[in-house]
Amino acid sequence: MYKIVANWKMYLDVQNSRNLAGHFVKWLEKNGCSELEFTICPSNVALWDVARQLEGSGALLGAQDIARSLQLGAFTAQTAGTQLKEAGCSEVIIGHSEVRQFLGDTDEIVAQKMQTALAHNLIPIVCIGETKEEKASGQTDAIVTQQLHTIFQDQTLNTEIIIAYEPRWAISSVSGGAVCSPEDAAHMHQLIEHTLHEFGNEEQVKKTKILYGGSVTSENIVSYLNEPRIDGTLIGGASAKQEKFQEIVRILLDTYCL
Ligand code: PGA
Repeated sequence: MYKIVANWKMYLDVQNSRNLAGHFVKWLEKNGCSELEFTICPSNVALWDVARQLEGSGALLGAQDIARSLQLGAFTAQTAGTQLKEAGCSEVIIGHSEVRQFLGDTDEIVAQKMQTALAHNLIPIVCIGETKEEKASGQTDAIVTQQLHTIFQDQTLNTEIIIAYEPRWAISSVSGGAVCSPEDAAHMHQLIEHTLHEFGNEEQVKKTKILYGGSVTSENIVSYLNEPRIDGTLIGGASAKQEKFQEIVRILLDTYCL
């Protein structure tokens, strides 16, 4: 089963989030199937409305970040795991490159947030990936391996965790058209899988989904999913535009659910 995560970032206001979620559920209704699992990650202020739209559709609700603190308290502007659960979330994106860039999250903070998410029974979708400069200096493999070591140091894979490999230079809003080829993405997914063996047994590693994210569109999504060990995708920009998202969903349903 492929996992498709739509990260709507801060692209949509609440009304448009509600509308797009409503449309999305209708596209699924006509032709849903068990080969695909969707998670919609709207802005926090839209979580409740989107949750209502997704009800009964089989699609899951996710948040885009979580506070580090296990408890409610004096943490202005942050959102606790309990609050995300109340809103209906079952998953949460952690360590997204924009959170690292604009809010300063480090791998150590990502590790703490992952523990907080797990403590609240939220499945973490942990983002890793190298910058343009790191890639240019040939450090990609070392950086990604190091990120996994820091984030997973005390964690065994005895619970569900999702990894998203997102080369930061390939995110559509900053890539200027640069894309990570499906073959290069597959190489990284194999490296990630190999590294995960340090944290779990064969069966646990197999169960850990590794998603690819970075300029995924209706034109290229199947070529990513066709690669070994690309278990799904994390889609930003193209998932927040109705026509583009509809085309992605249609292609996925046509390809995997006939
Ligand atoms: P993109 O974003 O699909 O717009 O490249 C992916 C992401 O940032 O998660």
